[in-house]
Amino acid sequence: MKSVAVVCLLLAALAVVHAARLRREEKYTTKYDNIDLDEILNSKRLLNNYVNCLLDKGSCTPDGKELKDNLSDALHSECAKCSDKQKDGTKKVLKHLMNKEPEIYKQLEDKYDPEGTYRKKYEKEAKELKEQ
Ligand SMILES: *[C@@H]1O[C@H](CO)[C@@H](O)[C@H](O)[C@H]1NC(C)=O
Repeated sequence: MKSVAVVCLLLAALAVVHAARLRREEKYTTKYDNIDLDEILNSKRLLNNYVNCLLDKGSCTPDGKELKDNLSDALHSECAKCSDKQKDGTKKVLKHLMNKEPEIYKQLEDKYDPEGTYRKKYEKEAKELKEQ
């Protein structure tokens, strides 16, 4: 009887470790977390490069491609696989686009949220970012 309990405990411990490892592997790469977002947001040229990449209108830098590849997933999963830095960066970028580049924001919304699903889902968060 005792050995059965020990085996059960061992299996449970293994399951926990395995789940933790899966979760860690499921994060987006942090390779690009040190990119200077201010520099991009303050340069029309740089910003347009990223936007054109996201809208399939231009070529992508490696980080732009990574963003494009994971954007739908991040929207869907509420950034569950984002690092804290990526979450902060997302807010910063959205805030900038919403308030300063409404045209770009709309184009991105049309492509990545044609049904308005996420607009609705993140309504509250969006309101907090919007400057009156
Ligand atoms: C992000 O996108 C890349 C390229 O498609 C993919 O290999 C990677 O698994 C994605 N990351 C996550 C956490 O889904």
